[in-house]
Amino acid sequence: MYSYKGLIIVTVVLVHLVTLIKGAVYSTDDKWILADRTQDLPDEAVLGGFDSDGYINYVGRVYYVNNVLPARVVPELGRATFNTDEANFATITYEVLVSNATVSYQWIRSFDGFREKNAVSVGTNVANERVFVCRIRCAGGVFIGTLYPSKRRCIVKYDNLQLYESDKYEILVRQRQVAPFMPFAL
Ligand SMILES: *[C@@H]1O[C@H](CO)[C@@H](O)[C@H](O)[C@H]1NC(C)=O
Repeated sequence: MYSYKGLIIVTVVLVHLVTLIKGAVYSTDDKWILADRTQDLPDEAVLGGFDSDGYINYVGRVYYVNNVLPARVVPELGRATFNTDEANFATITYEVLVSNATVSYQWIRSFDGFREKNAVSVGTNVANERVFVCRIRCAGGVFIGTLYPSKRRCIVKYDNLQLYESDKYEILVRQRQVAPFMPFAL
């Protein structure tokens, strides 16, 4: 009954199940720093926009029920808000995207879920689709939103405001630079 072949099949099925249960994965292309209200925002945090209350929003990400989603980090409140294509949430633990001497980030205009080169992905969603960071002007601010390429829209749901979505938006892209020349100091 416990044949070698049977064991292999059971193992394969288990591995499959574990992968399914594990769900979303974080993207490892960029550097994200875990933060909360007990820490200062990292110096190199990437600017995203501002909300209708006038707070500056930095680019963050959050793991939420098998989804990794872009987040709007407000350091003054020690809080981040984020949304799926349907609902919005808030959290007090989040990761913040940081740049460094060789990698910086830029917002460029894009549309229709177009795959821009070097677009920043936060990770995957429950459907195993990569999720990207977009932003749109709406509700008296510039809001970081969620871009699922298959939906072809930047989606923002904030507070108890209506859901905003647009097929024209800005997308966050990574830019690698050659490190500045450092003269040999000795
Ligand atoms: C900057 O960040 C990138 C992406 O995480 C990393 O590959 C690179 O080594 C970093 N560069 C420096 C100078 O720390």
